Amino acid sequence: MSMPSASVQGPHHDPEEATRWFNQWHVYRSIVDADWMSHREIFDAARAWVLTHHPGPFTLLDLGCGDAGFIRRTFDETGLWAYRGIDASQTALGKARDELAGARFQFQLVEADMLAYLGEASGSAGQSFDVILASYAVHHLPVREKQEFFRLAHARLAPRGSLLFADVFRRDGETRSEYLEHYSGMMRRAWTGMPPEGLASTIEHVARRDFPETGEAVAAMALEAGFRQRPRELFRDTTGFHRLMAFMKDVGA
Ligand SMILES: C[S@@+](CC[C@H](N)C(=O)[O-])C[C@H]1O[C@@H](n2cnc3c(N)ncnc32)[C@H](O)[C@@H]1O
Repeated sequence: MSMPSASVQGPHHDPEEATRWFNQWHVYRSIVDADWMSHREIFDAARAWVLTHHPGPFTLLDLGCGDAGFIRRTFDETGLWAYRGIDASQTALGKARDELAGARFQFQLVEADMLAYLGEASGSAGQSFDVILASYAVHHLPVREKQEFFRLAHARLAPRGSLLFADVFRRDGETRSEYLEHYSGMMRRAWTGMPPEGLASTIEHVARRDFPETGEAVAAMALEAGFRQRPRELFRDTTGFHRLMAFMKDVGA
């Protein structure tokens, strides 16, 4: 089993630093619109999951929600009735407000660090969620905070709840420096049409801020945090970098 990448990370993350690159939101948006990180397939799989596992009315907490660009198209035709999006970037939340205007479900957007939010509100009455979504937000955290993320997310899930975890992953046996070399090579080859300055700034952001784990390491963290069974992988792209996993709070849920 690959170990989490603790050795290359400092002890604390800085949410302001992690979100600064996203202030130039159009660069990230162009990546999403081109589907270079497989958002379409990931959110299609997320919709299929909630239709099967949460067929009744459900609540959703979206950690690192960004501009919430996929939320309405994914969940408008499901039982979602209350959505809460958390992000540390005001820029992203301003865009999320526009994206969600007119949604069929209630929504609330909160500017906060996701771990601080999970930690502060844990245990309060009415603060559990049927589904927690974290899409491309957790790989920024140092490994100890990723462990904390899983622990707090488990605590905030309602009985029979699901954590939907989409992120970038290191492939089995890949070190972080190999990952950076392979991922930036893939960006240069496959992200054709991206303006050179956007590509350069994205590669620099990835090199400075991204600390992805292997699938095995993530599964081990979740088991340690209290999830009772191994995750189900709902989507993996052909590169193996972009994946969606579902973690169920209860066995057999
Ligand atoms: C790559 S974007 C993902 C946005 C969206 N979830 C998606 O799938 O496209 C990462 C988002 O996480 C936010 N973020 C990063 N670290 C955070 C933290 N510690 N607390 C809250 N938000 C954070 C960033 O501001 C950014 O909006």
